[in-house]
Amino acid sequence: MNSNVNNYKIVVLISGRGSNLAALIKDSKYFKIIEVLSNKPEATGLQLAKNSAIPTKSYRRSDFQSLAQMKSAIKDRCFELEPDLVVLAGFMQIIEPDFIAAFPNRILNIHPSLLPAYPGLDTHARVLAAQEKKHGCSVHVVDTGIDTGKIIAQAAVDVAAKDTEETLAAKVLAREHQIYPWVLNNLAIGEIRLLDKQVVFSDSLKQQAKQLGFNIPI
Ligand code: GRF
Repeated sequence: MNSNVNNYKIVVLISGRGSNLAALIKDSKYFKIIEVLSNKPEATGLQLAKNSAIPTKSYRRSDFQSLAQMKSAIKDRCFELEPDLVVLAGFMQIIEPDFIAAFPNRILNIHPSLLPAYPGLDTHARVLAAQEKKHGCSVHVVDTGIDTGKIIAQAAVDVAAKDTEETLAAKVLAREHQIYPWVLNNLAIGEIRLLDKQVVFSDSLKQQAKQLGFNIPI
């Protein structure tokens, strides 16, 4: 087990509701959320952080001359905070290559589909339209593509004939709230290691993943 337990620092980036942030706050056993940043000052998730005495910072587009400058300010703040990981939780802004280069292999995202299927937006509607039998969520490393980085872990749900976009979204979200803290806690204690080309799980964690119904790369 990693000796830096509880010293594992993450910065969470959000844009809206913040239900994943809430799950991370609730289940932050081995990591510490040192700050929450939002590109939307009105993001309701900011209040969740404040309620838990987590520092927040928000960025308003109109305060910057360009979107690029605003993105740069967010990147600079992350750099300043020296986190172990930058964690995207419903952060609706493309991460530019210079941001990724500043945190190689250290920016994570959760996406509501079983990647590589259905990258991008409106995944639940697209899954229903395609009459898929399975859907789910993926925790992955962020690279310069859209939802194309290395997959760390996935959780699948069944798509029922009577599912609507809302019911499907709720089912997937419930699994998101389990898998994201699980991944982050296990990264913090070294049970998951992110290498350049692969993600390595300890043998005991592979067993646990099976029990929890999480799919991991083998
Ligand atoms: C989630 O569905 C997540 O998969 C996607 O954005 C949504 C964020 O929801 N990246 P919330 O703000 O965490 O409630």
